[in-house]
Amino acid sequence: MWGGRFAEGPAAVMREINASIGFDKRLWRHDLAASRAHLAMLAAKRIVSAADAEIIGDGLDRIEQEFEAGGLTEDPALEDIHMHVEARLAELVGPVAGRLHTARSRNDQVATDFRLWVRDAIDAVEAGLADLQRALVTRAADHADTVMPGFTHLQVAQPVTLGHHLMAYHEMIARDRSRFADARARLNRCPLGAAALGGTSFPIDREWTAASLGFDGPTANSLDSVSDRDFALDYLMAATQCALHLSRLAEEIIIWASQPFCFVRLPDDFSTGSSIMPQKRNPDAAELVRGHAGRIAGCMTALVITMKGLPLAYSKDMQDDKPPVFEAHDLLALSVAAMTGMIDSLTFYPEHMRTAADSGFSTATDLADWLVREAGVPFREAHHITGAAVRRAEEMRVRLAELSLDELRGIDGRIGPGVYDVLTVEASVASRTSFGGTAPDQVRARIAEARAALGMER
Ligand code: ARG
Repeated sequence: MWGGRFAEGPAAVMREINASIGFDKRLWRHDLAASRAHLAMLAAKRIVSAADAEIIGDGLDRIEQEFEAGGLTEDPALEDIHMHVEARLAELVGPVAGRLHTARSRNDQVATDFRLWVRDAIDAVEAGLADLQRALVTRAADHADTVMPGFTHLQVAQPVTLGHHLMAYHEMIARDRSRFADARARLNRCPLGAAALGGTSFPIDREWTAASLGFDGPTANSLDSVSDRDFALDYLMAATQCALHLSRLAEEIIIWASQPFCFVRLPDDFSTGSSIMPQKRNPDAAELVRGHAGRIAGCMTALVITMKGLPLAYSKDMQDDKPPVFEAHDLLALSVAAMTGMIDSLTFYPEHMRTAADSGFSTATDLADWLVREAGVPFREAHHITGAAVRRAEEMRVRLAELSLDELRGIDGRIGPGVYDVLTVEASVASRTSFGGTAPDQVRARIAEARAALGMER
């Protein structure tokens, strides 16, 4: 490709360290799409003759058929996907193939191909996340009234509903989707035509190639165009945040599936056994979702550190941009699919959740709120009175609702019989009707909005 300048070929190890074909072959479809757009533009601007463009176009079609049918044969001497395509084109159509590379460089080519690839990756993740949201919303709708303990510090805090808990993850995934959508909007400018770094002397039409590849327009600065990898970092950062959410949900499933909790059971097809302990059902898929989040964060860090010291414009370090993005994408796609499968098929144990919700004096806040509302007690004082009631119940080894009225009146004379209406876990959740609260009616309202947004209305 640059033989004119060199008397000798590269050393074997140079070839090896230089080659990216082992991974950038994944860009082949996008490379062909970008070449077709470039070729059509060159022909329209009469930079390449119509006759030559037709020959080259046919060659590109053949290459597409070949790669589609049998993949591509890697030749380490042909560094990357761009050179593989160009070399095959030359074999197929002869020297006219060399005209395709007019007014472009591999620097703008790889920047364009990679943007196209990341754009597809974003669309794929987005679709997967919408499926996960639908799974969460569907299970939440079935459990809008199911009482479970809400935790802070993993200590029973207040009763909540399972539907509310699942919808919390729906919200987190909604933010992830909006981060991916932001990344897509920023990504969608076309670097093709920036050439090596300074633009080109040929009368190209960058607006046209950008539009034909589905971009919103061309990038504005040729130096930035070939050295910008923000779009890959945006993707990796959004992927990392999303993976963190999946990991937290995975952790909940792991805890919930443990015997002391026994809130859920994973179906056989999402569990593994142990080779030595016949009774074991292990939540491996959830553990791997949790584990993959660490690897995805590692991919993000890898590219951050690759980019941090690079001067303008292109440096070969940037060839290392692709493996972390590909790896993160594969791990994330698998994690999203596995999580959707688990959410779809988990068995919940509402009776165990309710029992746990009724432990740890979870309605203590309701007693304090009752004192404020019904007896006009300032909240701080009510908190203190309730603390004394909890201490008494603990001594007697009973629940708050099992303390007699005399017992409660002994603590504070303003407590009346109406208090028992708020001390059950059902009454507690039903009372939390503030916007976004855990009351079943609130949860159902949020579910209805989510269903509409996800196109789940029939
Ligand atoms: N294989 C290279 C990459 O992935 C293509 C760009 C090569 N450009 C260059 N100036 N050597 O980044």
